Amino acid sequence: MKFNERVFSGMQPTGSLHLGNYLGAMLQWIELQKSHECIYCVVDLHAITVWQEPEELKRSIRQVTAAYIAAGLDPKRSIVFNQSQVSAHAELAWIFNCVARLGWLARMTQFKEKAGKDRENASVGLYAYPNLMAADILAYRATHVPVGDDQKQHLELARDIAQKFNNDFRAPIEKAGYGDGGFFPQPEPVIIGPATRVMSLRDGTKKMSKSDPSDLSRINLTDDADTIARKVQKAKTDPEPLPSEAEGLKGRPEAENLVGIYAALTGATVQSVLSTFGGSQFSSFKKELAEAAVARLAPIADESARLMQDPTEIDRILADGAARARAIAAPIMDEVKDIVGFIRS
Ligand code: TYM
Repeated sequence: MKFNERVFSGMQPTGSLHLGNYLGAMLQWIELQKSHECIYCVVDLHAITVWQEPEELKRSIRQVTAAYIAAGLDPKRSIVFNQSQVSAHAELAWIFNCVARLGWLARMTQFKEKAGKDRENASVGLYAYPNLMAADILAYRATHVPVGDDQKQHLELARDIAQKFNNDFRAPIEKAGYGDGGFFPQPEPVIIGPATRVMSLRDGTKKMSKSDPSDLSRINLTDDADTIARKVQKAKTDPEPLPSEAEGLKGRPEAENLVGIYAALTGATVQSVLSTFGGSQFSSFKKELAEAAVARLAPIADESARLMQDPTEIDRILADGAARARAIAAPIMDEVKDIVGFIRS
């Protein structure tokens, strides 16, 4: 059977979003909503795999929702909601806990990074996190998943889970009339653009992340124009001028990162940026970069702040999105339960 194209993606509400989230994923989300049915989730169940202060978590869920909308997601066109309001995510994750193998999860590099040395003390949820991510996608039988490069391994696992489910339950799946393609699609990662892996502004070998203790390492989607400009000015560089060819960025992680960011912000390719700035010093390039970043991001921060003044309206949008998400997931979950052999009334 052919699966209808459907897009699913999500972000964790753990503090405010940053430039990496925006360029690595959100730009693609905004683009895809023009052509596809899209479901965009604030993944609060994922957030609690590490400790979250309850009041802070509530604020972050609203903050991330506001950022989605301020950046250009249209909650009328796309479905925008927080994960915990749709029980299908947790239900299907449990079933996938019983499909995925311990060995598969043991290979996940993100778990190793996040758990650090004190692995015994990490939550069980942190370990099983990729199963929940597979459930997020497959509860809607979504086919396309726009993400940054760091989610690639998790998506491969989601594909493995879909395949194993299709194999393990082949007989009931065929009986239910899903003979050829299986019940779940193999969700495809959509990892595109010049900034699929945005690096720290302080160290071009480290990913830009919310958990970096230095706020100068990232541009937050809540930063005002002055802060954005200051962070760009302070970004680490090397002493050479910019090269004219992409080849010349090899071994120069900070230069590569800033050029990629500029290309993504302005909708250009890396090569066209280098054709313009090749031979320039970083001081003049940074001025242009700061301008492009402010022009693109400051209005998002302003609009987010405005939306945050009306939390009731944000909650209404989330409730509406959750109802629409439930309507898609519920019949899929009914079929999953039949296939697995549960009795339902
Ligand atoms: P999260 O919340 O860490 O990040 C959200 C999105 O932003 C991308 N991203 C980056 N892209 C480029 N450069 C960076 N430095 C950078 N940092 C983050 C991520 O790749 C991601 O696309 N597990 C996921 C959330 C999730 C999800 C899902 C995604 C839960 N269920 C189902 C897709 C489908 C996560 O922690 O993303």
